[in-house]
Amino acid sequence: MTSTSSRRVAIITGASRGIGAAIAVALARRGIGSVLAVRDPVQAEPVRREVEALGIPCRVARCDVTSADDARAVVGQVLDEHGHLDVLINNAGLIEPIAHIADGDPQAWIRNLETNLVGPYRLLRAALPALAHAAGAVVNLSSGAALAPREGWSAYCSAKAGLAMLTRCVAHEYGAAGVAAYSLQPGVVDTDMQGIIRQSGMNEISRIPRDRLASPGLAAAVVAWLADERPEDLRGQELSVAERALLARAAVAGEA
Ligand SMILES: NC(=O)c1ccc[n+]([C@@H]2O[C@H](COP(=O)([O-])OP(=O)(O)OC[C@H]3O[C@@H](n4cnc5c(N)ncnc54)[C@H](OP(=O)(O)O)[C@@H]3O)[C@@H](O)[C@H]2O)c1
Repeated sequence: MTSTSSRRVAIITGASRGIGAAIAVALARRGIGSVLAVRDPVQAEPVRREVEALGIPCRVARCDVTSADDARAVVGQVLDEHGHLDVLINNAGLIEPIAHIADGDPQAWIRNLETNLVGPYRLLRAALPALAHAAGAVVNLSSGAALAPREGWSAYCSAKAGLAMLTRCVAHEYGAAGVAAYSLQPGVVDTDMQGIIRQSGMNEISRIPRDRLASPGLAAAVVAWLADERPEDLRGQELSVAERALLARAAVAGEA
């Protein structure tokens, strides 16, 4: 039985930890409820509790973004439960394989693309009709690697470059229907992903000391601002937390 609620609701992929978890909290601070679309629902329980402690509803749904069935199911569950879907945050991501092109495992290379590029496509394919109906927002988590090659990261760079173009395609095809789509580069953020990068010793990013990394709150606050305010002039763009003007507009410069 379909029920409807007026509160806006977001799907956030990979929200069990790292930037995705911080996005759930940042959206809640703006009154937006979320469904944490994760591979391991048990792992996401602390995030769900943190959001609900703010008085905002939050649910956990099992979703591996490499599965088209999972993507369709999570969108279907949200529509059954709420009657609408307002925000999609494609956050789930994977850095590996870290290796030169001729040395790495080809299956791992394909898996990276399946996660970082095909995954967002699967979620978008399932969600766009509902997002168009709601005049909703999409934020895709990008990376500086979308625009600049990094040694050992050919899969990640290629996937994120594709994702930047996918954002533009969403804006091009669904902008007239009211869908506001953005890519955001979150900076170099202190998460498990950076731990893997440091351990690899490959390229200059791995040598950035941990105490120089940003906390996830800044990027999360900008994502939540984009999803909430849906700024018209930034639609389809590749944005970065390194842009002072963006932080000033989002009024998040002080976020940790
Ligand atoms: N950290 C940075 O400096 C940085 C910089 C630029 C861009 N980014 C981007 O920001 C996003 C979040 O990164 P992060 O640093 O928070 O990474 P993280 O700490 O490694 O977390 C990655 C998240 O993605 C999930 N995930 C991976 N594969 C998945 C799949 N197939 N289906 C569903 N969920 C999956 C993980 O779930 P499990 O717990 O199940 O593994 C985890 O929740 C990524 O898109 C990343 O590329 C991060």
